[in-house]
Amino acid sequence: MSTPDPAQSSSMPPASTLKVWDRFVRLSHWVLVGCLAVALLSGFFGGLPRLALHLSVGIAALITVLLRIVWGFTGPGSARFSDFLRGPAAIIAHVRGRDGRHLGHNPLGALMVLGLWTAVLALAVTGGLALGGLYKIGPFAAGGFALGHLSRDIHELLAFALMAMVIAHLGGVVFESQRNRENLAAAMVTGKKQNRDGDHLPSSTQAKLPASLALALVVAVIAVTSYGTLAGRPVAGLPGAMDQTVAEECSACHMAFPASLLPAEAWTSLVTSLDQHFGEDASLDEATTALIAAWLVAHASQTADTLPAHAFAQSDPQAVGQITATPGWKAIHADMPPEQFARAPIYTAANCAACHKDAETGLFSPLAIALPKDKTP
Ligand code: HEC
Ligand code: HEC
Repeated sequence: MSTPDPAQSSSMPPASTLKVWDRFVRLSHWVLVGCLAVALLSGFFGGLPRLALHLSVGIAALITVLLRIVWGFTGPGSARFSDFLRGPAAIIAHVRGRDGRHLGHNPLGALMVLGLWTAVLALAVTGGLALGGLYKIGPFAAGGFALGHLSRDIHELLAFALMAMVIAHLGGVVFESQRNRENLAAAMVTGKKQNRDGDHLPSSTQAKLPASLALALVVAVIAVTSYGTLAGRPVAGLPGAMDQTVAEECSACHMAFPASLLPAEAWTSLVTSLDQHFGEDASLDEATTALIAAWLVAHASQTADTLPAHAFAQSDPQAVGQITATPGWKAIHADMPPEQFARAPIYTAANCAACHKDAETGLFSPLAIALPKDKTP
């Protein structure tokens, strides 16, 4: 594919033009550009409700890079690692402008390509670990909250690193385009470049299609089996199922809050003052109160490893027993104006289930957030 084949098409390019980038290299390049743009935007500005989109483009970017790596072993000429990976001497010579023009990736550009792909792979892994540890979703659900939290921080750092690399890559494209008086971005669209004297040409190796498919299949099988093995591990620290008595006695005025949303001390304090319960008398007979108190304490946030269990562990001393008064709850919902909670059909911030479809499980997955339509007449 890298050498013009006169029999290939009737509209043959002029002899001085070479087909440098094959179809898959170009397609994967632009698909990756699209995925990374959407992933960065949704990651930095989308908030949790855009997480589903963020995950979709992130997974698409991962698959694209994996396939492109396969193509680096089996693709034609300029697509191959063996064609563009060069040692330090070649890189230094290129930086000093002492080697000729490269039609494929130049030695420094090749490093950038490797860096970008490595960053995407690392983002996929840390993103998966964050999703698993924080939300108990996906292959790393058994990973634990602390690991998830750390991974999210690293994921964010990597996103900044990726942006820096993208900017450096664009700078490189502009610089090389000017240095060689050509349009490298356009060449990644058409695949064609002018061939001049003294150019380093890509090798004329042909693509090995059956080998590409076989290798892609191997990668897919490894990915699916490791996903299955990882996702099959038992997840520790999940909130327990709701107790029947608590469900019945505590859901008359609001949803029965999962015990994992508050620490044991907060439940104890709340249950001992049910006669003055947020302006209501919610008192129960002694036996039932004791039963509910025991269950709430036994399943309090100390026993769970979920994001809400960690986020609401610290109470506001003025309002112990009020989830919506904890610094954690306020920080998470800080971007939402109070009117958002007061409007129909929500009415109060304590009505978690109005916006969190999985509120009763205590998980509060970002994929289960859906604000109800405004019903104010
Ligand atoms: C008589 C009605 C009533 C009953 C029964 C009741 N509650 Fe409440 N509860 C309220 C009201 C009213 C609020 C304040 C809601 C708000 O802030 O909008 C509240 C708030 C709460 C909150 C704090 C929510 C927040 O804003 O973070 C918790 C926790 C809670 N109740 C637990 C319980 C438990 C546990 C039981 C069962 C033992 C129970 N409630 C039974 C009326 C009731
Ligand atoms: C009016 C709708 C609404 C109500 C009511 C509401 N939330 Fe949220 N909550 C949201 C939104 C929107 C977000 C996402 C914020 C963001 O983009 O970071 C969120 C985020 C969260 C998160 C973080 C989720 C995550 O995946 O990291 C937790 C935990 C949470 N809410 C708990 C609660 C609890 C507990 C209640 C009830 C006491 C509650 N929320 C009531 C809308 C609501």
